[in-house]
Amino acid sequence: MIAYLNGQFLPLAEAKISVLDRGFVFGDGIYELVPVYSKKPFRLDEHLRRLQGSLDGIRLASPHGVAEWRERILKLIALQDFADQSVYIQITRGVAPRDHAFPQGVPPTVFMFSQPLVTATAEQKAAGVCAISMADNRWLRCNLKAISLLANILLRQQAVDAGCAETVMLRDGYLTEGAASNIFVVKDGVLLAPPPSNLILTGITYDLVLELAAAHGIPHEVRVISEAEVRNADELWMTSSTKEIMAIVKLDGVPVGAGVPGPLAQRMDALYQTFKHQVMRA
Ligand code: PDD
Repeated sequence: MIAYLNGQFLPLAEAKISVLDRGFVFGDGIYELVPVYSKKPFRLDEHLRRLQGSLDGIRLASPHGVAEWRERILKLIALQDFADQSVYIQITRGVAPRDHAFPQGVPPTVFMFSQPLVTATAEQKAAGVCAISMADNRWLRCNLKAISLLANILLRQQAVDAGCAETVMLRDGYLTEGAASNIFVVKDGVLLAPPPSNLILTGITYDLVLELAAAHGIPHEVRVISEAEVRNADELWMTSSTKEIMAIVKLDGVPVGAGVPGPLAQRMDALYQTFKHQVMRA
């Protein structure tokens, strides 16, 4: 596996950084994850736009313009010997003596690597997954894709400990998102999504699901969703670049709707797959 570190392409095992990197010491950095199908990045412009938003949010100047990012990411993809990839991009505030305040004149650390992207099989999609619910105890800037993921990790591990795939988070009685995904609700044929805000990371998949709903006349509403609506949902989905659209069929041990992936999840997954293949062929 070939990685990228500060301008160099090199074997992943040879990519080394200082222990004083602020990413290591403080979690002072941001990241992106771009899915790649048949060596073509999916929605790269959208991911680069969100990357810039995260950089702006932590007051870190982008070390590259969009064209430069694109060129480096495409080269990293080309250098791998597998076709479907998940490209990880991480930028930290660089190496400096430990001090909370921003260092002056220090170049950011840029690290990228690619892993094989394994999407759900037809059997996994047909089965769906279970989830648990937890209070969302993260900070109030969840719209930034920060590398400091300790709260998300602890929340997600609770799901794993319960034999489930995801933790659905609720803040003050309202749905926010999953520990590593966005959450959609279906009730009476209407697709419901929590609104973009500082309380959730607006997923690239989330945006595409809403675009596809609009394009195909699927009734949908972007609005706050109460805990009661989550618990009485006909369908519950998790979405992300790696999970795509995955039906949650059990929440806290209680079946969601009929307890199997619902018709709208299946329809949206079909629309998503068709869209993906069209883009990849273009
Ligand atoms: N996570 N919300 C959170 C907290 C996430 O971590 C993610 C994705 C999403 C969905 O975003 P997108 O559709 O752009 O993947 C929402 C990625 C996959 C990760 O951290 O590995």
